[in-house]
Amino acid sequence: MYDQLEATLHDAFWEAEGAGAELGLLETFLNDHPGTALELGCGSGRLLLPLLEKGYFIEGLDNSADMLELCREHSGDHEPVLHQSGIEDFQTGATYAAITIPAFTLQLLPYEQLPAIFENIRRHLHPGGGLYITTFIPWAEITGELEEGEEFLDHETYFPDGRTARCHTRFQVKRISQQLIREHRYEILSPDGELLETSDSTHHLTWLWPREIAKLLTDAGFTLQKMIGDFESEAPCDEDAQIVTMMAEWQEDCDPERLA
Ligand SMILES: C[S@@+](CC[C@H](N)C(=O)[O-])C[C@H]1O[C@@H](n2cnc3c(N)ncnc32)[C@H](O)[C@@H]1O
Repeated sequence: MYDQLEATLHDAFWEAEGAGAELGLLETFLNDHPGTALELGCGSGRLLLPLLEKGYFIEGLDNSADMLELCREHSGDHEPVLHQSGIEDFQTGATYAAITIPAFTLQLLPYEQLPAIFENIRRHLHPGGGLYITTFIPWAEITGELEEGEEFLDHETYFPDGRTARCHTRFQVKRISQQLIREHRYEILSPDGELLETSDSTHHLTWLWPREIAKLLTDAGFTLQKMIGDFESEAPCDEDAQIVTMMAEWQEDCDPERLA
């Protein structure tokens, strides 16, 4: 997952969707938690590098060597601090003012492991440290608006040299266990339409209802501070929101181990 062609095309597809929208929210969150931050699942640095450019202190962590390599290649003079590790069991040896998990990365992790992951995140925060999470609800797949089992053109974008990049997707949805299995086929085509490169990848995603995330956070000793829908920080999160961002804080006196 997130290697080879999938890594190379990751930023191009996000860019085509205007997904830089999350940057503004991240900045607001980091301003509320000044100090060194850590992005879990930083990938090729799509969000991390613009934040470094703006003067924020933020390290990155990812388990994909290909994504981290792209991040280093794109980093110019910044030399970001990058950790190659799984989010499941990372140990950076430091604590942070803030930890971020943007761009739906949390949903790639097995649900059963989330309590232990939140505990580990808390151990990597200073008291008063903030946790930022963005997840999405796959409404089109859940409601049947998109046809299950049928391949469709999920993303298409063009390179300046005339090549085309495509991602075809087919999905299966397991409504009771809240799982979405997506099979992606990535392609690069020449300006004449000749297939130059292709690769496949399967993602197992869990969707989480906001109250489930809120409970996981509370159980791990966090206090939920903000819930934002579809990156619109000015309006209350509405019931049909597709993207849900949560900002929480860990206060030492809320630590369940200390209260026990
Ligand atoms: C959707 S991409 C987001 C990348 C980046 N945050 C962005 O906004 O462009 C998810 C990233 O999480 C990484 N990832 C997925 N599962 C992971 C895991 N268990 N541990 C560490 N990184 C993981 C992938 O390699 C990928 O770079």
